[in-house]
Amino acid sequence: MKGVAISRESLFGMMQAYKVTSLLKTAVSMGVFDHLAAGPASADTVARGLGCAPRGMRILLNALAAVGLAEERDGHYALPPGAEPLLVSGSPAYLGDMVKVMSSDWEWDALKRLDDAVRRGGTVMEVHAETPGYEYWEDFAAYAVAVARPTADVVADALKSWASGRDTMDVLDVACGHGLYGLTLAQRNPQAQVWALDWPNVLTQVDRHADQAGVADRVHHVPGDMFEVPLGGPYDVILVTNVLHHFSEEKAGELLARLAPALRPDGKIVLVGFTLGDENPADDPAPHLFSILMLAWTFEGEVHSIEAYDRMLTRAGFTGGRRHDVPGLAFRVLVASRSE
Ligand SMILES: C[S@@+](CC[C@H](N)C(=O)[O-])C[C@H]1O[C@@H](n2cnc3c(N)ncnc32)[C@H](O)[C@@H]1O
Repeated sequence: MKGVAISRESLFGMMQAYKVTSLLKTAVSMGVFDHLAAGPASADTVARGLGCAPRGMRILLNALAAVGLAEERDGHYALPPGAEPLLVSGSPAYLGDMVKVMSSDWEWDALKRLDDAVRRGGTVMEVHAETPGYEYWEDFAAYAVAVARPTADVVADALKSWASGRDTMDVLDVACGHGLYGLTLAQRNPQAQVWALDWPNVLTQVDRHADQAGVADRVHHVPGDMFEVPLGGPYDVILVTNVLHHFSEEKAGELLARLAPALRPDGKIVLVGFTLGDENPADDPAPHLFSILMLAWTFEGEVHSIEAYDRMLTRAGFTGGRRHDVPGLAFRVLVASRSE
């Protein structure tokens, strides 16, 4: 934090921060918060309910209480204020599954080798973010919907008036993951058809979300590598969300140039991602911490600046990029047209 001197306490906190992550991850995966949702309970009761050792549960619950993830009173443990909507499964605002994305073993394994990645200037992992069929992306596609929704709404809002006058709205969602960006456009625009491009193991999650969104009959698959797979088209909208940071500016630009001919002359390309501003890193830490993950997990990826995105778009044959911010989130939405 800017202007705050390093202290023994702050250093010890940083050294042990992973323990809090581990506690949260463990409590979610064991169903502790769901159990406490029924009301305050002793460690023995929770242990019996979840089929584990009373000693183990007592130590876990006390540690959860120590970091504010539970409350202890007279030997009984309860959910702390604010936990119910976010940490009890089945709640519409449930975020617990995001531990499989934000605190995944895959990321942790990559970060354990951060020093090697710093020396090499890129990942040293045999299995990394660009490995075809990587299982991590199945978890991401399954569970990251909750965080994608506000940004998908900003994208749909940004295209709303333009889309309303169109007879066709064929959408290519590149590296779609959960598919929420394309699915939201399909929900909002009855004429929309969505082609979801990703690795085959990820596309099964798109089908699940398309069913839930009631648009499964308008969703098609484009399985394969986005740098090689035939793209089909032409499309009215091409979505490229949260993936260009896997690559260098040059390689990301190559992908955009590959996509350009697949867009109808009056179509729109939409980019979404973290962007780097001019701020001091201490004033805008999120993109820098994300770039560390990209360093450990990709060969050349990092968070790009708005200027870099503009350069990529211009070189690939797009123009007039309009920027939309996502309230409360560090994502930016850029909507551009073909320059010819
Ligand atoms: C961070 S997720 C983004 C998902 C979604 N677009 C979003 O905005 O949340 C990156 C996605 O890119 C996909 N991906 C990465 N490299 C790919 C490639 N070469 N071809 C196809 N999909 C790829 C991954 O499988 C994953 O689903």
